[in-house]
Amino acid sequence: MRYLGSKTLLLEQIYDLIKEYREGIFCDPFGGIGTVGSYMKKKDFHVITGDILNFAHFFQYTLIERSAESDFTKLYQALQINSKEEFENLMNRSVVNDGWLIKEYSEQRRFFTKDNAKRIQGCINLIQEWYSEELITDNGRKVLVASLINSFDKVANTAGTYYGYLKQFDRRALKEFRFAMLPVVRGKTSYSLKTDAIELVSNCKCDVLYLDPPYNERNYARYYHLPETIAAGVVPLPSGKSGVFRLEGEKTSEYNKKNHALEAFKELIDHADAKCIIFHYTDYGLIRIEDARKILSSYGTVEKECYFNSKGYSTSSHKRKENKHHIIKVCR
Ligand SMILES: C[S@@+](CC[C@H](N)C(=O)[O-])C[C@H]1O[C@@H](n2cnc3c(N)ncnc32)[C@H](O)[C@@H]1O
Repeated sequence: MRYLGSKTLLLEQIYDLIKEYREGIFCDPFGGIGTVGSYMKKKDFHVITGDILNFAHFFQYTLIERSAESDFTKLYQALQINSKEEFENLMNRSVVNDGWLIKEYSEQRRFFTKDNAKRIQGCINLIQEWYSEELITDNGRKVLVASLINSFDKVANTAGTYYGYLKQFDRRALKEFRFAMLPVVRGKTSYSLKTDAIELVSNCKCDVLYLDPPYNERNYARYYHLPETIAAGVVPLPSGKSGVFRLEGEKTSEYNKKNHALEAFKELIDHADAKCIIFHYTDYGLIRIEDARKILSSYGTVEKECYFNSKGYSTSSHKRKENKHHIIKVCR
């Protein structure tokens, strides 16, 4: 799935900075959809990951905490099927003619073609039905919802987030929606929690603490409102051009607020208990890099400081560019 601030292109570089701690605990409290965490699980770390978003937690459960194929025995028996392939085929045949996603996010707003919306709505309805009939567990639902979101993102008529849709249907949006289950990632025992970073960091003694917070005012809950709505299992009352729906209790992260981000970061570091901290940020974020460096220096010794461009190449150029990654490694 496309995700704002995804580190997909920097995984090897991040691993290179921490490989001496392999087999230890890697804690990723701003874990997003589990891109870095699942990679570190493959690299033999025990991973503990978190995020404040529901749908991000669903991805993290599926790709990080889950250690084997989910047990859908009860569901498969009820449906009289035997394999994942048969299940995917069944999901891909479930087409319905009306529902909130079709009306709000296809007819009123062109997030999906009508054809794809009918298929996606069919999958949403089935998952909801199976959950109310107790044919799937909470964890089973997490796997199905994360797989559904990952699948429909491939045909979403957006520039990458759900904050808006494109005027004309993009080539990717015209492709046919296909439901596919997310894979199991094998590795050491790992956990995922839907929680604020401060809670996770305060309770997690680890080898590596990887900190990749948001660096500007873009609120992830708003940019990914549709996946969040589906994870919450509610029928939304969307408003405005983008059809944003605010879930009850939705809060803006302190890291998205200019006057709060530094204080939140300081508190986080005060509660950290890690052999090594990797801070992944930008020089033009809400926290000034000099302030962050000062706080991190009081935690331990700055062992390395480097820049990567968005393609993952290391760079020493300081030319202003929002998307340049600045990494500070601090060890005790
Ligand atoms: C830059 S993204 C992480 C990207 C991720 N490393 C990846 O490669 O896909 C930051 C994440 O932090 C989450 N977040 C923001 N504030 C948070 C908080 N206070 N506690 C936990 N997670 C938070 C956001 O929901 C978002 O998923």
